[in-house]
Amino acid sequence: LAPEHTLVLFGATGDLARRKLYPALYHMHMRDMLPERFSIVGTARRALTDEAFVSEVRQALLTYGKLSEQDLTDFPDFAKRLRYQAVHADRKDDYAALHELVRELERDGRTPNRLFYLAMAPEFFGDVALSIAACGLSQSPGFCRLIIEKPFGRDFETAQALNEQLRQAFAEEDIYRIDHYLGKEMVQNIEVIRFANSMFEPLWNNRSIANVQITSSETVGVEDRASYYEGAGALRDMVQNHMLQMVMMIAMEPPSRLKTEAIRDEKVKVLRSLRRYGPHDVKENVVRGQYTAGAEGEKGQGLPGYRQEHGVNAASQTETFVAARLFIDNFRWAGVPFYLRTGKRMALKSTEIVIQFRDMPRDLYFNRDGQLGPNLLVIRVNPAEGMYMQLNAKKPGTEGSVVPIAMEFSQDADNAPEAYERLLYDAMRGDSTFFTRWDEVSLAWKFVDPIAEAFREGDAPLETYEAGTWGPDSANALVEKDGYRWWPVY
Ligand code: BG6
Repeated sequence: LAPEHTLVLFGATGDLARRKLYPALYHMHMRDMLPERFSIVGTARRALTDEAFVSEVRQALLTYGKLSEQDLTDFPDFAKRLRYQAVHADRKDDYAALHELVRELERDGRTPNRLFYLAMAPEFFGDVALSIAACGLSQSPGFCRLIIEKPFGRDFETAQALNEQLRQAFAEEDIYRIDHYLGKEMVQNIEVIRFANSMFEPLWNNRSIANVQITSSETVGVEDRASYYEGAGALRDMVQNHMLQMVMMIAMEPPSRLKTEAIRDEKVKVLRSLRRYGPHDVKENVVRGQYTAGAEGEKGQGLPGYRQEHGVNAASQTETFVAARLFIDNFRWAGVPFYLRTGKRMALKSTEIVIQFRDMPRDLYFNRDGQLGPNLLVIRVNPAEGMYMQLNAKKPGTEGSVVPIAMEFSQDADNAPEAYERLLYDAMRGDSTFFTRWDEVSLAWKFVDPIAEAFREGDAPLETYEAGTWGPDSANALVEKDGYRWWPVY
């Protein structure tokens, strides 16, 4: 059970709240994870009565929460927890009214714990945090925590400026920076797979692993987010956060204990060892692409190109795809390439991590009609959840022909809590393990900034790929020049 508290949600009428947060909170309510004395105070600019707010939340559950009318029998109880207060980011009186409402709710005797969630346009993050402090809302004998969504800045400098604003209002240990990939079941599972199985640890290094591949491909295009995405691109949108988080989980050393700071310390060391790239290295190691219209008769048929999307500049240089080869220069990983690729409008929606093991020192089966493929450990993050090991076995009925076989584990993804539910619950209980610490954010930007700069300067050409494909050819070349290929092969 989460402790008693009041959750103040900024951006209560926005997309994230409706798509992810209300469904997550309602699930928690239904699973009895929320305490008796707990309220959600929604705030946004629009003037809304409590009733109108309740009906918006109800509608969001039906539209985005995979819930039907029958699933909403508990809703009247949930609705009792909901309140609304209009807040304009720059109006002091609004904050005073908000503070009063929170105090009124706390008169039921609950511990005055407060959790603030900034699910709004990032340009308001800093000011809202400062206003929360200025009106006294963050001074309470209970806990006062801040959950903040990405993007956390758009480069190191802006991130640092934002962080300084937040730190005037909240202590580092009370700031919960969301990276929703860290809330995904299989991303959290990496730690268990690695550190609870004695068969992997001896192999988890450059002596046995040939390369690591992390793919996060999407089929959607820019949707209605052009105003944000045009200024971000795939590098800032996906690589700086989600992709590097997965790299850290795969590459970190075992922590001394399963304690938040011990784990985060190990993760951040990976970023410290991550080789930084200058302009020349970017050309060698990073591919950037932008989708064009889908080809006739192919998967992407009928899909527009990025530059034709609503709100996108017709000469846009923004990348919708990035592939990169990374190196972690420490004892464990020296010489092992980590390949990343992520993009919009690709052939499949899929997030998978592939560990490719080294080939046998000598292939005894080379001259038979079998083909010895590499051993792979594939961690399936999304949409399927599970993992499999690709091994070689004898092809039945033959003499020494070899076929790849898979030992597979898959997990029921439908009933598992969603990332946001897990992360909200962690923040309520004060567990920040799966949130991003400031030094992680800052080092991730320090890695990404020179690459973004090289993109701006044209040091890595913007290539194109047809919607519905696996990205520009150079993304294959990046892996092939090391003698590998992207796995799995669909
Ligand atoms: C978000 C990005 O952080 O992650 C989006 O801003 C992207 O552009 C999304 O679509 C992908 O998340 P998931 O969970 O669908 O892989």
